[in-house]
Amino acid sequence: MSFTLENIVPWGRSYDEYVAMFDLTEDDLRRRIIGCGDGPASFNATLTQQGGNIVSVDPLYRFSAGEIRKRIEVTYPEIIAQTEKNRHEFSWTRIKSVDELGRLRMATMEKFLSDYSPAVNHQRYVEGELPRLPFADGAFDIALCSHLLFLYSEQLSEEFHIASIKELCRIANETRIFPILELGATKSRHVQGVMARLTEAGYIVTIETVPYEFQRGGNQMMRIKSVKPTGLFAGR
Ligand SMILES: C[S@@+](CC[C@H](N)C(=O)[O-])C[C@H]1O[C@@H](n2cnc3c(N)ncnc32)[C@H](O)[C@@H]1O
Repeated sequence: MSFTLENIVPWGRSYDEYVAMFDLTEDDLRRRIIGCGDGPASFNATLTQQGGNIVSVDPLYRFSAGEIRKRIEVTYPEIIAQTEKNRHEFSWTRIKSVDELGRLRMATMEKFLSDYSPAVNHQRYVEGELPRLPFADGAFDIALCSHLLFLYSEQLSEEFHIASIKELCRIANETRIFPILELGATKSRHVQGVMARLTEAGYIVTIETVPYEFQRGGNQMMRIKSVKPTGLFAGR
């Protein structure tokens, strides 16, 4: 499917949500981070203000701030209506209501938009899409992928997941994916297969509970590390 403005639904999470979803420590936040599929999230803007080192990559960044803003205006009422209809799929403890969710998401996307235009020139928002990313091997310490892999399991195959995770592990020492649920708040159909195949290929894969839950039961992230060759014969 080609990536056009008409088929995207921009929706962005905040810095505090990213920190909780990925259980990021003070030490993690000082490392080189790549946010894959960050869309209109404000994690990049806030972390940069705090002196962090982050790049976001998303096919959305081929569009201007004005184009993204117009698309948000069209899709926002549709997403709010959908969330209202499916409100039983979410946990309303941290965010108390659909109204509050709407305000939070809009504030987040406004923060992104005001950061985005000048930032594009500084290469903090890079156009690109899985399963191939325009970065060198080991360019980052941590790759984060929020609400893309596993969430869209119906649309994205197991093969796509495997290729994408290997690509994230190529450019970063460690990859974290949240959530491991798909739409409808059920465990992703690909989790078991992806874990088994990556483990077989020599990756270390763990599932960890994190201090964030909005989709009901969605309080786990997957962490993947590739084992680098070490010792006397490394690199031969
Ligand atoms: C649901 S949004 C999540 C945005 C953000 N990560 C967050 O959690 O708030 C999914 C994002 O994935 C991006 N996306 C879609 N296909 C992609 C691909 N193949 N590679 C990277 N990003 C992609 C979309 O443009 C969109 O911004």
